[in-house]
Amino acid sequence: MNEKNIVLVGFMGCGKSSIGKRLSDKLGKSFVDSDVEIKNSAGLDISEIFNLYGESYFRKLERNFCKLYTLSGNKIIATGGGIIKNRGNIETLKINGIVVYLKSTPQKIYTNIRYDYSRPLLNVEDKFSAIKELLEQRIFYYENYSDIIVDVSETSIEESCNMIIKSLEKEFI
Ligand code: S3P
Repeated sequence: MNEKNIVLVGFMGCGKSSIGKRLSDKLGKSFVDSDVEIKNSAGLDISEIFNLYGESYFRKLERNFCKLYTLSGNKIIATGGGIIKNRGNIETLKINGIVVYLKSTPQKIYTNIRYDYSRPLLNVEDKFSAIKELLEQRIFYYENYSDIIVDVSETSIEESCNMIIKSLEKEFI
């Protein structure tokens, strides 16, 4: 596997962080999660950042994350689900990385995060409809900005990692 970063993109709750951590063990690359880095450097939770400063401020922090973490390679990078809202983010991440879209269904995403209240954009009464609506708005970007698409809606973390590794080997070696 080459020295580029492997950048995981996809909707909230599709499994970017858990798949990313396992992938980093399997490939011996370090793991970084954009939300965790943003949280740590701001000293605030993501929902606190949204509440105190608004989404646009959070998106600036995400932009800075992309610029900083594209400077070096050999990492697995899990990104926040909205990273693709800014095409510039993807262009930046691709300088030194391969972008992998972890595709999932609204049903599976809902199952994964129905009891999670840490995502400000989904803290609404009808979470399932919000997931469907936002995914519809974003799916074009996920599919068109990525180098590889892997459907993780029916697979375990281990199987998802193996599928990603297989696709990377096929496309990039
Ligand atoms: C967001 C996704 C979240 C987090 C923030 C906004 C989004 O990350 O960055 O709540 O706009 O899709 P996860 O995809 O890790 O949940």
